[in-house]
Amino acid sequence: MSNCRVCGNYYKEFIDFGMMPIANSFKPKIDIYEEKFKMSVGFCQKCMIVQLLHQPDPTKMFHENYAFFSSTSFLMQNHFKKFANQVIESKKLNDTSLVLEIGCNDGILLQNFKSKNINCIGIEPSKNVATKAEEKGIRVITEFFNPDTVSKIEKEFQKIDAILSANVICHIPDVNSIFSGVKKILKNNGVFIFEEPYLLDIIKKNSFDQIYDEHVFLFSVMSVSFLAKKHDLELFFVEHQETHGGSMRYTIGHKGQNIIDKSVLKQIEIEKNNNLHLESSYFYFENNIKKIRDDLLVLLKNIKSNNKKVVGYAATSKSTTLINYFKITPDLLPVIYDTTPNKHYTFSPGANIPIRPYSEFHESNPDFVLLFAWNHSKEIMHKENEFMKKNRKWITYVPEVKIS
Ligand code: SAH
Ligand code: TYD
Ligand code: ZN
Repeated sequence: MSNCRVCGNYYKEFIDFGMMPIANSFKPKIDIYEEKFKMSVGFCQKCMIVQLLHQPDPTKMFHENYAFFSSTSFLMQNHFKKFANQVIESKKLNDTSLVLEIGCNDGILLQNFKSKNINCIGIEPSKNVATKAEEKGIRVITEFFNPDTVSKIEKEFQKIDAILSANVICHIPDVNSIFSGVKKILKNNGVFIFEEPYLLDIIKKNSFDQIYDEHVFLFSVMSVSFLAKKHDLELFFVEHQETHGGSMRYTIGHKGQNIIDKSVLKQIEIEKNNNLHLESSYFYFENNIKKIRDDLLVLLKNIKSNNKKVVGYAATSKSTTLINYFKITPDLLPVIYDTTPNKHYTFSPGANIPIRPYSEFHESNPDFVLLFAWNHSKEIMHKENEFMKKNRKWITYVPEVKIS
């Protein structure tokens, strides 16, 4: 039993993944001390949120050597360009407006405001990625968004027209302080828009690998609506996104300032029809994960005993959960290729699988390619179409293990 971070209620765990390393801690050497934490997940029946019971200290995950650079995906670049344009149009933003992004990473979203002369500030604690955003001319406060940063923002800037965030709010354990901070710095008619991997997609797709140290919450419309109300804010619009295997974009305003769109109640109804409000649903999820584990291990062992070659594609954070929970060793998966320079010639967290540059992928001449970045499968499968035609097969594992 543990206390819910949102509402204080007691809740129980429904899956225990065991001791896990930090998902993005790719190591320069094998024999290096690794921080581990007990990764178990629970569901709170009062506020309907799914959360990790324990989480490493945020400074152990987000620092000057953070491994994830948002702009590695062209599809995500397009996605964030559209996101920015949508906000600019709907809020009629111009050069007197102010936009703030929580977790701007390398500036993938804010660059689209900057290029239109709309004032913007990024809050980004990971210095190496923040520097990339600064190189694009974006003003970045290299700190965690927390009550102290909120005080600084209140002193230095006018109230904000649009507070934006993508794949960040679910990373912040003290989510109540985020919402209370937003309440303070948001203009009367301003909007707080954030998007995160969506609980319903995760449950439907069995995408358990979305669960790792950074993702302390898996949000639903029910739980975000609860959170907003708790802070005298109002969730008034939701919009499903295809990114990260299925995400939800939540639009929040001050209470009473906006007409609540029918999308909110409709989505809550869909969530209830899918039993997201029932504890029992989460136990089925665990059984599905175990089936994926058993099927994938049989497949990898068969490939090995048939002297075929399998390699991993994309050293994602998600892969850390799968590899460590399934206990996959370099013996079963000898290498993972990835495009991110910081990850090259490192070893995967926990399992020590070598990470090599993507430039070496084609010459490795594999028979099977295990796709860890399944959320970018459209982009990747299109890119590798010619190569894979030559008698090679993809292995994917959500919603089930499949060879194609
Ligand atoms: N928005 C980007 C980055 C997501 S990765 C995208 O969607 O691609 C998560 C980012 O959140 C990291 O860059 C991390 O440094 C940042 N982050 C983590 N905790 C934060 C906090 N408390 N305040 C602001 N940013 C935070
Ligand atoms: P993503 O699913 O966004 O990562 P995470 O699970 O960490 O949130 O994938 C990003 C990783 O995938 C990053 O290490 C780069 C790698 N990648 C490739 O190697 N090739 C590609 O074509 C793409 C799109 C990503
Ligand atoms: Zn709760």
